[in-house]
Amino acid sequence: MADILPATNETTQPGPTSTAIPAADLAAAAAPKHSKEQIVTPFDVSGGVDETGKAVVIDYDKLIDTFGSRRIDAALLERFEKVTGHKPHRMLRRGLVFSHRDVGLLLDKYEKGIPFFLYTGRGPSSDSMHVGHTVPFEFTRYLQEAFNVPLVIMLTDDEKFFHSAKLTLEDCHRFALQNAADIIAIGFDPNKTFMFIDTDFVDGGSGVAFNYNVRVMGKRTTINQIKGTFGFGDSNNIAEFGFPAMQSAAAFATSYPFIFGEDKKRVAKIPCLIPCAIDQDPYFRQCRDNAEKMKYVKPAIIHSVFLPSLRGAETKMSASDTDSSIYLSDTDKQIKRKIGVCFSGGQETREMHRELGGRTDIDIPYQYLRFFLEDDTELERIRVAYEKGEMETSEIKAICTKELTVYVSAFRDRRKAVTEETVKHFLTPRHLDYTGNPFPAIQ
Ligand code: TYM
Ligand code: TRP
Repeated sequence: MADILPATNETTQPGPTSTAIPAADLAAAAAPKHSKEQIVTPFDVSGGVDETGKAVVIDYDKLIDTFGSRRIDAALLERFEKVTGHKPHRMLRRGLVFSHRDVGLLLDKYEKGIPFFLYTGRGPSSDSMHVGHTVPFEFTRYLQEAFNVPLVIMLTDDEKFFHSAKLTLEDCHRFALQNAADIIAIGFDPNKTFMFIDTDFVDGGSGVAFNYNVRVMGKRTTINQIKGTFGFGDSNNIAEFGFPAMQSAAAFATSYPFIFGEDKKRVAKIPCLIPCAIDQDPYFRQCRDNAEKMKYVKPAIIHSVFLPSLRGAETKMSASDTDSSIYLSDTDKQIKRKIGVCFSGGQETREMHRELGGRTDIDIPYQYLRFFLEDDTELERIRVAYEKGEMETSEIKAICTKELTVYVSAFRDRRKAVTEETVKHFLTPRHLDYTGNPFPAIQ
């Protein structure tokens, strides 16, 4: 995903003297500013700006409308619990995983004994991932447990190379191997998870069936579709135009005969569920547009919101601005410092805070707790106390620091246990083990 600049948090200050400002700028300043629409694509995420030029928070309801997906409602959560016997994940309970396509249909099939596979991925643009990236992966791990189904994880070293002005393909491949170890440390089942790096899988690896699907998808995809869906123009390179066919073709079970078998007709019917943050949706709209013509089931999708930047809820984290994110490689001290200076919804003075209370809707420590604190009752206690002004900014920051330190240090311990051998195992094309899968009808 493209790195985006954090929302500007500079206060508007008048220039030194008005005579120092060129006339043209003065005229522009006097003219009414137009609001800029929000943009959400895999390469650009921004809530846009209002009439005054101020960055605004991403409007997820509007995204559901423009993308044409469905909001996850209470009825779907209830069904989810009934079908899996698992309490919905905290991200589902709190509306952080908020939108979907065809998940109801997938649950219908699952109830009838037709299982599915999970597919998600990561674009290895740097050697370390931030906690925002763990959001869809944590949720995917929960889905793997709740449904007991196989999972495919794609590492798109090619995608990041095509988009970057400076990274070599070798850099991206190296990052992919490092990211693979991080992803494994999130806790995926080694018997039920296959992970692949695009270039290794396709260039002489076992990706023959996958590459076949990439080509058929590529043939069905026009330049107009890609321009419209991704906002590409004539100066994007042709590899960028071709790449969406890769990310789409990975959503078909027939791309993995070593997992699902060679019987294409049967395997074509195995559905796929893709957990991701909503920026990845354009790829899968593209995929769903073409799937049925290719005689494959359309993949179902489940979308999360973005973990906001430490600098404010107007944007997601940016890898190029290290103070906008907490990295999985950060030390406890770094985490403490970053949360200490992050954007707060508290009032300016203690007296005002006591009187007016904190604004949880924009308070970054509170927003992070929504993602990472498991206990619903404790979260609600914090919300009420902070909004009433009984809890101070320093206190909510301390709670958030503690939760994230616990999260990142537990990750650190699991990461240490991941060896080169473990990574190799996950990256090896192989039949996955479905022992205990409740679908005797499907062998
Ligand atoms: P990438 O590496 O940009 O992001 C990996 C996953 O993390 C999600 N994400 C976030 N989630 C919450 N908060 C954030 N701040 C945040 N930033 C990123 C992304 O939506 C994604 O789910 N092209 C993809 C790689 C890919 C893929 C896939 C992703 C290939 N196949 C299938 C999802 C599903 C990419 O560059 O992801
Ligand atoms: N038995 C099927 C095969 O080997 C695969 C399978 C079993 C499966 N359980 C599954 C596929 C769950 C998807 C989901 O082809």
